[in-house]
Amino acid sequence: MRTRAGACEEVTVETQRIPVVNAGEYDVVIGRGLGDELERAMPAGAKKALLVHQPVQARRAEAIRERFAGRVEVLTAEVPDAEDAKRIEVAGFCWGVMGQADFTRTDAVLGLGGGAVTDLAGFVAATWLRGVPFVALPTSVLGMVDAAVGGKTGINTTEGKNLVGAFAAPAAVLADLDVLETLPRNDVLAGFAEVVKCGFIADTAILDAVLADVDAATDPASPVFADLVARAVRVKAEVVGEDFRESGRREILNYGHTLGHAIEYAERYKWRHGSAISVGMVFAAELARLVGRLDDDGVALHREVLGSLGLPLTYPSGRWDTLKGAMRRDKKSRAGLLRFVLLDGIGRTSILNGPEDHLLFTAYGEIGE
Ligand code: GLY
Repeated sequence: MRTRAGACEEVTVETQRIPVVNAGEYDVVIGRGLGDELERAMPAGAKKALLVHQPVQARRAEAIRERFAGRVEVLTAEVPDAEDAKRIEVAGFCWGVMGQADFTRTDAVLGLGGGAVTDLAGFVAATWLRGVPFVALPTSVLGMVDAAVGGKTGINTTEGKNLVGAFAAPAAVLADLDVLETLPRNDVLAGFAEVVKCGFIADTAILDAVLADVDAATDPASPVFADLVARAVRVKAEVVGEDFRESGRREILNYGHTLGHAIEYAERYKWRHGSAISVGMVFAAELARLVGRLDDDGVALHREVLGSLGLPLTYPSGRWDTLKGAMRRDKKSRAGLLRFVLLDGIGRTSILNGPEDHLLFTAYGEIGE
């Protein structure tokens, strides 16, 4: 626990510990600093640890190396930013470092960075000697509430994203909110789209908090922000606890992602993920209205909440064929039929299987610009 002094008030920020059960057994710890938590999370018996990190995290990586000096030999592996990290060559580089250092099954991997780094580092840990302990140290909002939680690890191939990977639960996830305070504002807001997604699919108090005070809700220094991150993690923990290997309920976490992934593809991954799923959620809301599952107010709420975060709500008309083609390759598709996670009212999800093209096209018209 640490006390932070604000300009006009003093607030107490508790460290929150959210258990993930039935999907591995581990805690997601949300707080500030978290050095002592890392001491606790370092697997007993680890003599060596590979710390995989983004270039921008080099200073923190060095601090971790020094903290464990004389006890655990921390080897660092700097990997490229974003999706460039999720390549077989980069995984091979990490395996090479471990091989050269004679890593054993009791040694550990730490992943310090955004979602791409924790996906890669988790994959390296899952595959080395068929699995060594992994501790995720996410440094982005998206990483904290989504990528690092739930045990999905993987890399991309030239044919697509996340095509190679493993479900492998981490030993712990430590989300140090202090690291977010230096992130560009637009990255925080885009990552927050995943928090809001958890509001739409399950915990509507998240939406209320954003509408009540969007600045507090999205300020990493604010206790409101800490509470909302914790709420989103609880939603994810509950869902993955029910369906670790995504044979059913876990797909609700992909709300807004069917069109969102297609937009990312159409934009050659230049859009932030959160921006793409923002448009994807508005599209899903429009589709839900067309099939009678969501009323006008429910759709308007999407625009109000996502718009208050400054996230995009529209997408250029005229790109439907590209988007439709990309959606057909979505992992949720079954036997060539598209599947959408829709809302059956705010906070309640349902699945729409194989909607007719004209419905999709009409919903697309509603988000057109
Ligand atoms: N990002 C969706 C999931 O973890 O299932």
